[in-house]
Amino acid sequence: MAANNGAIKLVAGNSNPQLAQGIADYLKTPLTKAQVRRFADMEIFVEIQENVRGADTFVIQSTSFPTNDHLMELLIITDALRRSSASRITAVIPYFGYARQDRKPGPRTPISAKLVANLITHAGANRVLTLDLHAGQIQGFFDIPTDNLFASPEMTRDIKERFDLSKVAVVSPDVGGVVRARGLAKRINAPLAIIDKRRERAGESEVMNVIGEVGGHVCILVDDIVDSGGTLVNAADALLKEGATEVYAYITHGVLSGQAVARITASRLKELVITDSIQPTEAVRAARNIRVLPIATLIGEAIARTAKEESVSSLFD
Ligand code: R5P
Repeated sequence: MAANNGAIKLVAGNSNPQLAQGIADYLKTPLTKAQVRRFADMEIFVEIQENVRGADTFVIQSTSFPTNDHLMELLIITDALRRSSASRITAVIPYFGYARQDRKPGPRTPISAKLVANLITHAGANRVLTLDLHAGQIQGFFDIPTDNLFASPEMTRDIKERFDLSKVAVVSPDVGGVVRARGLAKRINAPLAIIDKRRERAGESEVMNVIGEVGGHVCILVDDIVDSGGTLVNAADALLKEGATEVYAYITHGVLSGQAVARITASRLKELVITDSIQPTEAVRAARNIRVLPIATLIGEAIARTAKEESVSSLFD
């Protein structure tokens, strides 16, 4: 669909060109010609090569690995648009990096998620559109309107197509993720279980208690981020030990740092399903048990609704 008489402008950073193109295709709006390049010392230089004066602009950029470079690109593109008299700038951040630093874990530590929110706002963003924030409260770190989309409708559709729902149990891999997992369990009318990780004494290994009935069930782990893969691999082992027949995982953001892909490939996880909020590497695409669910349609539709001042939350009714 064409949004707002074509008056919107989509500007892509370098973090996820495939997703940006998918969004542009959905909106039938070409990506705005722009150059985002480096000087010899790796400073970032941006040039918007089309008129954007008075335009409703959307900058598409995940602050994924290399996080600091991609964040800086987002800030500099936003500054370029502001100085080019764009009427409104929406930072579309499918994966919001630094989100896990959303509180002080100890004395004399930063709240980096808040700092990043300040930087994006001060660069000139008027709105933020993001997906499955690590904690919903991060919306409050921005003093500009922030829409937090959910991948769960896409995941629910996929799960309904692939599983006999009468055999499924949804599992949160930690206590912090219960709200997210409960939401998905409700959508597919499945029971919920929770993994409670505990280190009884310092220096002893973590004990994983499974709360809820998983024996004889196909377990679907639900979380926002898979990073090293450790949480998922350990959770899969704990569930199989408790009698689960198979373990799958649906995780929004495939951060997949370091040896994560190898760890997951070698694990007892039947399949890990991630979205393309972070551009999948070749290794991710080649992995035998990792599958990518595209989210360009969801983000494209949210952009179209934002441009037309229509409800975004009704996407999730
Ligand atoms: C933590 O609170 C997040 O929701 C994820 O569970 C965590 O980031 C996963 O990390 P890893 O894959 O390194 O265990």
